[in-house]
This record gives sequence, C-alpha cells and structure tokens, in this order.
Amino acid sequence: MAQDVPTDRSNPGNHGFGVDIGGSGVKGAVVDLDTGRLVGDRIKLLTPQPSTPEAVAKTVAQIVEQAGWSGPVGVTLPSVVTGGVARTAANIDKSWIGTDARSLFSHALDGRDVSVLNDADAAGIAEDRFGAAKDTDGVVILLTFGTGIGSAVLHNGVLLPNTEFGHMEVDGKEAEHRAASSVKERGDLSYKQWAKEVSRVLTRFEDLLWPDLFIAGGGISRKHEKWIPFLTNRTPVVPAELRNAAGIVGAAHAAKTGVTP
Ligand code: BGC
Repeated sequence: MAQDVPTDRSNPGNHGFGVDIGGSGVKGAVVDLDTGRLVGDRIKLLTPQPSTPEAVAKTVAQIVEQAGWSGPVGVTLPSVVTGGVARTAANIDKSWIGTDARSLFSHALDGRDVSVLNDADAAGIAEDRFGAAKDTDGVVILLTFGTGIGSAVLHNGVLLPNTEFGHMEVDGKEAEHRAASSVKERGDLSYKQWAKEVSRVLTRFEDLLWPDLFIAGGGISRKHEKWIPFLTNRTPVVPAELRNAAGIVGAAHAAKTGVTP
C-alpha cells in the first residue's frame, strides 16, 4: 500500500500528468491522483524511428501541448534511470544510454519540473497505490511480461528502484529469455508450457525476496485466467488492474511527489 500524495492547494483537482515511452508508442494523459483514473483522453503518438532522445523529447512535448497541460510531468523510460540519467536502453535507441533524460525533457518543456523513472517501476507504484496491491502491506513485486520482463519492488509503498529482475540468471538463462511473453509467442508455447517457465522464474524471486504478493502485468495479464492457475508458487499471484494506464499513472504520481530514483 503506497504512501499518500501531499495535497497541492494550487491544483485543487489533485491532477498530474504522466507520459509512458515504449518501443512502439508514446502515451500521455492527465491523471486524477486521488483515484488513479485518467482524466479525459489518453493521447498516443508513434515512437519516432530512430527513437533518439531528441526525437522522443519532441514527441513528449507534442503530447503535453496537445493535452494543454502546464504543470510538472512524469516520464517513464524502458531503462534503468539514476539521478534522471538513462543507464540502459531496452527497445529504444542505444543513444539513450548516458543521456540526462530529466534535463532533456525539462528543456523540451520550457524548463518545467520533470521526473523520469523506469517503466516497470512506474507501473509498480500505480498498482501499489491504486490497483492490485492497494490493500496489501509488506513486500510487493510487480513483473511486466512483454518483449522482456520489467520488475518493481515495493515495501509498504516505498519503491526500491531499478531492480531489473528480468536479467537475473535462472537455471543458466536470463529470466526474460525464459518467461517474457515474447518467448511464448516466438516458441509458439501453450499457456501451460509457458506458465511452467514463469513458475520457475517466480520461484527464484520468492526464494530470494519472500514477497507477500506478486502482480503480473504486461499485455498477457489480460488473459490471466488462462495461465495464472497453472503457476505453482507459494506466493499469491494476481493480475495487474490498471492495464495499459499503469505507466502513465505511476509517472504522474512520481512527478507529483517528486520521488524518483
Ligand atoms: C529492461 C527494463 C524494462 C523492461 C520492460 C527490460 O528488458 O531491462 O528496464 O523495465 O524491459 O520494458
């Protein structure tokens, strides 16, 4: 369960703005930070190709302008982010590595405050506060199953950023090479076959971290009833609830609280 967002009297609606950057799309929306719901439409533009920092920053500025938003902005990247700087780049141009993303976006947005964080970390914050873990205290691990595996670890609502569990070696292979949803597609695996690999990866994580709850996110969590029942782990596994809005909501929350890695 996450901590409360302080009330900002200059913004009585308690709204924030989040942008979620992915390999194919850049999505942004105004978020109601009391409920975790999107306010109005989600704006989606294609990720520019090549997805260089300058090109993506322009796209982010376009979305914020189109929404008519003038406050602080939270932005996710599929990257490890420390001190606003991208340290890795998954599914975006490699020139992101070493880029001061916070300064870049702030510059593209007329100098306003920008918070930048990893995409799975943002989803974890959102699910913890508004979604699948809103009533759970203790250690919560969210995993996003997609092209790779993203991870977020929270303890009583406080994020331990940049965990990158998708890259943990499990029985001689990186976790995301065993159990990302792209592995299921590429190998044409049944849900049952794929769930066996997911169980194996989750077993490693639960033996090391003893979480109270796993949250399964990513597109494949929509079909959770086809595979979560096959999992053999001792820790409860529940599907993410905020679907494709989680990154946006978590980014907006991070911008509002200013709590970013
Ligand atoms: C990256 C993570 C990212 C995840 C989901 C992984 O390959 O290393 O930083 O959160 O993919 O996009």
